[in-house]
Amino acid sequence: MTPDDFKHMSGLLRARSGLVLNEDKAYLLESRLTPLTRKFGMKSLDELIAEVRGKKDSALITEIVEAMTTNESLFFRDTKPFEQLKNLVLPRLLKSRAATKKIRIWSAASSSGQEPYSIAMILKEADAQLSGWNIEIVATDLSLEILQKAKSGIFSQFEVQRGLPIALLVKYFEQDGDKWRISDELRSMVKFRPFNLLDNPAPLGTFDIVYCRNVLIYFDQETKAQVLDSISNIMPDDGVLYLGGAETVLGLTDKFQPVAGQRGLYQLTRSESMLLSA
Ligand SMILES: C[S@@+](CC[C@H](N)C(=O)[O-])C[C@H]1O[C@@H](n2cnc3c(N)ncnc32)[C@H](O)[C@@H]1O
Repeated sequence: MTPDDFKHMSGLLRARSGLVLNEDKAYLLESRLTPLTRKFGMKSLDELIAEVRGKKDSALITEIVEAMTTNESLFFRDTKPFEQLKNLVLPRLLKSRAATKKIRIWSAASSSGQEPYSIAMILKEADAQLSGWNIEIVATDLSLEILQKAKSGIFSQFEVQRGLPIALLVKYFEQDGDKWRISDELRSMVKFRPFNLLDNPAPLGTFDIVYCRNVLIYFDQETKAQVLDSISNIMPDDGVLYLGGAETVLGLTDKFQPVAGQRGLYQLTRSESMLLSA
């Protein structure tokens, strides 16, 4: 691949998905796109890049962008964001939304579904308190392929062994050959939709709780700031945001501030009168 080819491909990826690919990661283009060259009947990566150059849109470009996403996820990733949901965020919203009995939660880069299904399990476990409530979980991702997998609710033995307590596996999953299928009840609690975080999220509606975890790490500072600002615009004043362990709002936006003592949890700066604390 020539330096110019690399520049073209990294520019394409940044424009389509926000992904920043520095030259030290050029090998990722080779390893992730080589299977696509075969799929599209091409002889080499050079041929694939030549095909992409000069095109604005094609099935090939969509598949390239999807192939370059990192879909690593696990159930109850980092534990805390789910414990906080159960013990801090949900109890507070149950009080403040008592009149409408409506809560909306967004898993903004849901990958293969472990994150929204973990949220669904937390809610299901709190069933008694939530009777009569309308709680919506919307899970979105850029990759149609990974959304399809998430929607299926089918996980491998390896996937259910990562982060999922055995009691919840037994309670909410059924064995299906060498795979595990999540119950229809939990599956129906999550609405999966395609959505690119570079776009305006306003059409998705407003969300009281946003999980935007382990995706900003792939973006440059400007894109991170733009995504965070867009998210802040679709949250009520007392809404909360979860970021991944390696992510922060600090130095990017003043729309959010960390919740003291609650790692990974952020609240809107404009909500001065409603601030959460440890
Ligand atoms: C590493 S996974 C994170 C999954 C989950 N949030 C977690 O923390 O386990 C990152 C996901 O972000 C998605 N993604 C990457 N760029 C995106 C974009 N511009 N818009 C929406 N999703 C994107 C990828 O397809 C991938 O599924």
